[in-house]
Formats: sequence, C-alpha cells, structure tokens
Amino acid sequence: MVSTRTATADDAATLATLAAATFALACPPGTAQEHIDAFIAEHFTLDRFTGYLADPGRALRLLVDDDGTAIGYTMLVFGDPIDPDVLAAVTHRPTAELSKLYVLPASHGAGGARTLMEATLDDARSRGVTSVWLGVNQQNARAIRFYGKSGFAVVGTKTFLVGPERHDDFVMEQVFGDALRQAQ
Ligand SMILES: CC(C)(COP(=O)(O)OP(=O)(O)OC[C@H]1O[C@@H](n2cnc3c(N)ncnc32)[C@H](O)[C@@H]1OP(=O)(O)O)[C@@H](O)C(=O)NCCC(=O)NCCS
Repeated sequence: MVSTRTATADDAATLATLAAATFALACPPGTAQEHIDAFIAEHFTLDRFTGYLADPGRALRLLVDDDGTAIGYTMLVFGDPIDPDVLAAVTHRPTAELSKLYVLPASHGAGGARTLMEATLDDARSRGVTSVWLGVNQQNARAIRFYGKSGFAVVGTKTFLVGPERHDDFVMEQVFGDALRQAQ
C-alpha cells in the first residue's frame, strides 16, 4: 500500500535522485540525451533540492511504498506566475504551480499517482490558493490524460527550454470549487 508524506530537509538527496531518474520520461521523443543530461546536472543537484526544501514558497511531497522507499514526488510553487504565456492563461489568484509530478515507471498505472495528486492538491488548498496550474509537454499523452482525470483542463500554451531545445507545453489549470462558485 502506497502513502505520501511531506518531504523534509533530510530528503534532499532522495529527491535529487528521483528527479534525475524521472525527468526524461516527461520529455518528448527525440530530445537529445546530452541536453537531458545537462539539464539534470544543472537543476537536480543536492543544493537545489536543499534550497527548495527550505523555501517557504514551495511544498514538496513524497510518494512512498510499503517499506518507506520513495517512488514519486511533487513540488508546488506558490505565487503569481512569471512566464507571460502563463500569466495570460491562468487568471485565478492566488494560484500555485504544480511544478513537478513524477512517479518511477515501475509504479505507473497502479494508483499511486492519484494518491500523490490528491495529497498535493490538499496541500495547495490548505495554503488558500484558488487554483493550481501546470505545464506539460504537448506530446506527453499519458500525463495529459492523467491530469484530465485529476480535474485539470487546458487553458493555454507555453514553451519549455531543455538547453537549446524549445518544447511546446500545454498550460493546464484546476480551479477549486469555492472559487468557481464565487466566479459564477
Ligand atoms: C504522469 C504520471 C505521474 C501519471 O501517473 P500514472 O500512474 O501513469 O497515471 P494513470 O495510470 O493513473 O493514468 C494515466 C492514463 O493515461 C493512459 N495512457 C497511458 N499511456 C497513454 C498514451 N500513450 N496515450 C494516452 N493515454 C495513455 C492510461 O491508460 C491512463 O488512463 P486510464 O486510467 O483512463 O486508463 C506518471 O505517468 C509519470 O510519472 N510519468 C512520467 C513523468 C511525467 O511525465 N510527469 C509529468 C510531467 S508534466
């Protein structure tokens, strides 16, 4: 039986390892391995995750299996979007970005991602946001399907850089119930 828990300062190395093991899964076919490797080396260091875990503007959560082994993670980033394409697409405030959601391949299709998503959305709600948004590569059909099942809808597009490669993302957003009712 899988479960989730809030990541703590002691989890930085675990998160860096998980991030390195799963990042390529979200890249479109044809992404150059050297660009993936460089992205991982720059972005998924122990220092980077130590900083994320100490940042009150972020929330990281781990998916763990029966024996406590980490098999997935999420990271929320609170605050207004910076990317102009996202600013145009995501109009609810306050909002948070679901910046990362990754599960190890051996645990795909087993319901763990749903458990992790639900707990992460609860984290977002508990911080008072009215919506959560994310970027997902337009060719990542599995993740897009999963996000649709989880209550997200496409609200726009943006680009994502992996080194010199510019990838096309959908921007997806989920607006929480109370905010929807107030807007009506
Ligand atoms: C995204 C992710 C967390 C979803 O978890 P999961 O366990 O795979 O999710 P589920 O199996 O519950 O849902 C995936 C859905 O996509 C479907 N699917 C699988 N492959 C597909 C494909 N090639 N095209 C379309 N749909 C596909 C599945 O059948 C399932 O839908 P269903 O429940 O209606 O049958 C997980 O796949 C993952 O970690 N992927 C790699 C990292 C990634 O892409 N992260 C997102 C970055 S934005």
